[in-house]
This record gives sequence, structure tokens and C-alpha cells, in this order.
Amino acid sequence: LRHFLSIEGLNRGLLTEILDTAESFAGVTEQSVKKVPLLRGKTIVNLFFEASTRTRTTFELAAKRLSADVLNININASSAVKGETLLDTLRNLEAMHIDMFVVRHTDSGTANFIASHVQPHVSVINAGDGRHSHPTQAMLDMFTIRREKGPDFGRLTVAIVGDIAHSRVARSQIHALNLLNVGDLRVVAPRTLIPAHVESLGVRVFHDLQEGLRDADVIIMLRLQRERMQGAMLPSEHEYYRLYGLTRERLTNAKPDVTVMHPGPINRGVEMDSQVADGPRSVILEQVTYGIATRMAVMSMAMHPVSSQENHG
Ligand code: CP
Repeated sequence: LRHFLSIEGLNRGLLTEILDTAESFAGVTEQSVKKVPLLRGKTIVNLFFEASTRTRTTFELAAKRLSADVLNININASSAVKGETLLDTLRNLEAMHIDMFVVRHTDSGTANFIASHVQPHVSVINAGDGRHSHPTQAMLDMFTIRREKGPDFGRLTVAIVGDIAHSRVARSQIHALNLLNVGDLRVVAPRTLIPAHVESLGVRVFHDLQEGLRDADVIIMLRLQRERMQGAMLPSEHEYYRLYGLTRERLTNAKPDVTVMHPGPINRGVEMDSQVADGPRSVILEQVTYGIATRMAVMSMAMHPVSSQENHG
């Protein structure tokens, strides 16, 4: 592992190795001594061209707990606003002896573009690019599911509910769940929010929420991503909630011990009720916590490639 750009093209062994490594870091971060010296002397740049609360912060915390130096570039206060190109920005940061870029961008493919232009010793981690991919989110979600339900994904029914069409999170989750041999993978959404040919990714499509949730072990709710819906038929929030909002009553269609997840940010009263988001089946804040250990795992593996997995990503 040198770069970590998407889940596509990885294999089950590498995903399991990331989860196992994250498990060892979760043990570290849950104790009073939170730091390990693995990335001492390394410099990591958070390059976020799009808003973020959870991802940017947990990448920064993860880097600090690995003892790296971290720079957070405020793009709105950088020379990008004076017309400096992305490549010139990169070249100038590289001149400061950077070891890793963590990149979020509104355009799909930006992390791949950067990875193809950095110096050979520099790693690139994708922190979300357009509609394409959010691979560390998918990995922290797999980590959360494994913690909640154990390592046998084959016995699980997972329902991903909401705006599948515009969601980089859903794409990455679908690839990760397939690699981990999930038993029954469902997507639940109105027709306008399901991408064409999604069945080819090995999912079952439901348009009725109650049916889609029936006997589910895990429900992953998604936000309506209006910022990526240019020209699309937008459902009204009221209508969407009426048909697809997750309420306590609708949750009874799933298994009694169902795990409810959401990558955040939540739009309360649109995709889910506060009673569910803050309720006993929700692990939404645990997902955020596990993001630190999972990102520690990905960053440390990228900086210390293991020979058998070196070419992935
Ligand atoms: N889940 C997620 O990517 O959240 P942020 O946009 O806050 O980083």
C-alpha cells in the first residue's frame, strides 16, 4: 500500500489487514497513552478543497497519534484563490519535504490525479473525491460493522438507504462489503436516486423502505447530497422523509439487534428521526471514534509498505 485512492482493485486480504491494524490502534487510542512513534519525522498535509468536520479532524488526530507533523492547508486562504494551479500548489508543498497528502476535492479523480504527479516517496490518501470514492469512510464503516457483528460478514444483511446515486460513500461501501463477502446487500431509494446498472455491483434494489429493511442486521442511512444533484429531479425534504425517513416505528422491520449507521453529516428530520439517530441501536458517534484508528492504520501502512500488498491502491 503506497496510495489509498479507492476500494476498487483491492483484495479481501488487504481489507482484513487494514481492519486488524485498526483494531490494534483502537486498543492504543482507548488507553491513556494515546501516541505511538510510527510516523515520527514524517510530514502530512491535509489538503481539503471541500468542507469536512469528521474526516479532516480524525485524519489530523490519527496523524498526531502516529507522532507525525501535520499541516492543515486552508484552501480559501491559500494562493489557489489567486489562480495558482493544483499542480503548482503540489510542487510548492513538495518542496517543503512532504511525505503524504490527504486530499478531499469536489471533482472525481482528483486524488488519482495528484497520486500520478507526486514524487516517488510521497503517498496520497483519498479523503473523498466528488461522487467517486471515500475509501477510508468505507473502511471505518467496515470496522464498525465488524466490532458490532463479528468478523463473519457472510451472515449479515446490510441495507444502504438514501441517495445512492450521488454518494461516494455508498460506492466505496458496496465495494468493501462485496470484498468481505457480505450475505445480502441491499440499496433502498427512490428510482431517481439509484444509479443505472447498480445491480451489476451485486446489490438488490428496493424502492419500498419497509421491504428493504426487513430483517436487516445493519442499516446505513445516507444524506440527500444536494450539492451534487445539479439538474436532477430533487425530492422535497418533506416528501422524502414521508417515504424514506427512518423512524422508530420503521426500524421494527429490521432485526431487534439491528445496528444503525450514518457517515454524517445527518440531516435530522429528513433521512432519519433524532429518536433513531440518538437511540440505542445507533452507532453513529462510534463510527466517528473508529475513524481515528482506521485512518491510523491506513496512514501507517502507506508509510510502511508490506511487500505482499505493496502494489495495491
Ligand atoms: N463522513 C464524512 O465524510 O464527514 P465529513 O464531511 O464531515 O468529513
